[in-house]
Amino acid sequence: MILVTGGAGFIGANFVLDWLEQAGESVINLDKLTYAGNPDNLASLKDDTRHIFVHGDIGDTDLVEKLLGEHRPRAVVNFAAESHVDRSIHGPEDFIQTNVVGTFHLLQAVRDYCSGLAHPERSAFRFLHVSTDEVYGSLGAKDAAFRETNRYEPNSPYSASKAASDHLVRAYHHTYGLPVLTTNCSNNYGPFHFPEKLIPLMIVNALAGKPLPVYGDGRQIRDWLYVKDHCSAIRTVLAKGRVGEVYNIGGWNEKANIDIVHTVCALLDELSPRSDGKPYREQINFVADRPGHDRRYAIDAGKIEHELGWKPAETFETGIRKTVRWYLENRDWVSNVQSGAYRQWMEKNYVGLAG
Ligand code: NAD
Ligand code: TYD
Repeated sequence: MILVTGGAGFIGANFVLDWLEQAGESVINLDKLTYAGNPDNLASLKDDTRHIFVHGDIGDTDLVEKLLGEHRPRAVVNFAAESHVDRSIHGPEDFIQTNVVGTFHLLQAVRDYCSGLAHPERSAFRFLHVSTDEVYGSLGAKDAAFRETNRYEPNSPYSASKAASDHLVRAYHHTYGLPVLTTNCSNNYGPFHFPEKLIPLMIVNALAGKPLPVYGDGRQIRDWLYVKDHCSAIRTVLAKGRVGEVYNIGGWNEKANIDIVHTVCALLDELSPRSDGKPYREQINFVADRPGHDRRYAIDAGKIEHELGWKPAETFETGIRKTVRWYLENRDWVSNVQSGAYRQWMEKNYVGLAG
């Protein structure tokens, strides 16, 4: 079996569901259930004995050691993190605790466990650390896309904390020989995406008749990947990646934020038109920019494509249509995540806008 951390969040839950479908191997899922962790994401696994959910913190060494000792996983895939840039600007401390200190404790426990394994389990063991393209900083309009050899230049407390965790993972390989793999992926979108991030927020606000807050001039560029393609890339790296290597993951889908918002609005006009017949784009509202807002991210996915033969299955057009449909068909999921904590966040970040 494998141990997944953060498997009740957006990407982690998609990964666990995809893993059980594709690989069929059991999963222990360790998640702290922060505001972003949602057991509803895993509701379809209620009666699946291959999925063992454990409520806990990656920084709890005793718990992690106990889980490793009891279940003896052949790999650990680390998704657990605080992941929202805007939250990291308002309150960086949780990001340092989980992304840096938590990852350190997890690495310590995994290192102890791995060193106690006998061959061949020891040589087959892997620690896969899921990271982000944001560690590379911001690109100019004409710069080449991020490669694995780019310098780390993180600009937000979130990306700085992820960069620190990547460095720790690298050091545990270099110093202690821990068999690690690191992936740096671009922006994901798809089912179970918490509606504080751009795409789900636009869908949810549009349907609720609320403003669609676009930061600054809306010309910032992100490189979008459908979440299931990220999951297939992680499975590929886990199976075939070379120990100690870093793999960038992306779908060659650079889009300006305003174009994303226009695409979401056009799909909603088609699939769930406004009752007054007006276009959703009328709800767009340009608001104050995010402090230190990175202008452009773009991933060069050449290494994972050439070395491991991975390619995304979705284009942006097919993936975004599936995503909008998912939100239209899962309105209960949306209302369930709109808890008190979510409403407080909306009021804090979008003063006067959230309604
Ligand atoms: P998310 O915020 O939706 O989920 C994070 C999950 O981790 C939640 O279930 C939360 O409860 C859990 N968690 C938080 N702190 C924990 C702790 N101390 N111990 C155990 N569990 C804890 O995040 P996501 O978007 O699914 O991102 C998952 C990973 O992928 C993160 O490491 C993130 O940096 C990385 N990533 C995300 C994106 C993206 O576009 N969302 C892109 C590239 C990389
Ligand atoms: P986000 O989904 O927070 O991901 P990240 O900051 O990790 O890339 O934001 C994606 C882009 O959308 C980013 O450039 C910020 C912008 N954005 C808005 O314009 N309005 C919003 O309400 C949000 C949440 C994001």
